[in-house]
Amino acid sequence: MKYARIAGTGSYLPKRVMENAELEQMVDTSDQWIRERTGIERRHIADDSETTCDLAEAAARNAIEMADVSVNDIDLVIVATTTADCVFPSVACLLQSRLGITNASPAFDVQAVCAGFVYALGVADSFIKAGNAKTVLVVGAETFSRILNWQDRNTCVLFGDGAGAVVLKASDGPGIHSTHLHADGRYEELLHVPEGVSRGYADMQQQAYVQMRGSEVFRMAVSKLSEVADETLKANNFDESDLDWLVPHQANLRIIKATARKLSMTMEKVVVTVQDHGNTSAASIPLALDVAVRDGRIKTGETMLLEGFGGGFTWGSALVTF
Ligand code: UT7
Repeated sequence: MKYARIAGTGSYLPKRVMENAELEQMVDTSDQWIRERTGIERRHIADDSETTCDLAEAAARNAIEMADVSVNDIDLVIVATTTADCVFPSVACLLQSRLGITNASPAFDVQAVCAGFVYALGVADSFIKAGNAKTVLVVGAETFSRILNWQDRNTCVLFGDGAGAVVLKASDGPGIHSTHLHADGRYEELLHVPEGVSRGYADMQQQAYVQMRGSEVFRMAVSKLSEVADETLKANNFDESDLDWLVPHQANLRIIKATARKLSMTMEKVVVTVQDHGNTSAASIPLALDVAVRDGRIKTGETMLLEGFGGGFTWGSALVTF
């Protein structure tokens, strides 16, 4: 059996940085509240002409360069996103064309909001394990700023835009040891954009936007992330002390600290980017991963737990040796 090994990582952030101070001018909030409750200090915001596929392309090119593969070796493209450029084609198809991949291999999007990247990684891993792909581009990319209500302080201070990518190659050893994906659709109303194409828009003047009951989502995230971490270690006969790194979804520093505590990991072993990126949904894990790979923290042969939780609810994890 083949395993999926990460051969390259990449990321991209829009140029425009929005500091907490700017949000103080827009809604009834404060830099102090945002830092204390979330750990966020700033986030990047795409400009009007920049789309999710633009961010995805820049991140993908960085990952492909590091992996040193030719684009027509890529035999599967998966993009995790909630904020696609258009209803269709998928961002993955747009990206395939932008990158000049002409080998007619499959390309599709995965929609699991903030758990999207671990979902996409799970799908890619299955393709490689089954022998149906050898070189897979997996991207998490979002322009979440487009689905925010900039008058709602409960949500607009939390999110940012960005993209992260990995190139996976079939290998004789791990790589990805296992992925664990879950969903519970009963919680739709705690975190959702309730309008859309088929339901329609209640008011065509108004964009559909993120609505969240934050403290309830917070409690659920802490509990499910800790459950899935246990499940992952157990499935692989790993002990907490076997983990070199935790690379979590970057929604809230307090959630990240709670997960690290549960795994008895010191914060030195946790990759934290939420202060600079905010919550970039499906992009947050590959963005954090790329930052820690490129600054030399995560080294070849080290083992990390990736985990994410998002609307749906959806949640999941991946145990990966880099
Ligand atoms: O990535 C997908 C998953 N998403 C998450 O994991 C997010 C999970 N939730 C959270 O991160 C936190 O619940 C929040 C950061 C969203 C909120 O933090 P909290 O400590 O749970 O606060 P809260 O919702 O209980 O609100 C506390 C107070 C409220 O005021 P009252 O009712 O106590 O007077 C809010 O109205 O804070 C108020 N508040 C704000 N105040 C200043 C809410 N947002 C803001 C704000 N600035 N931006």
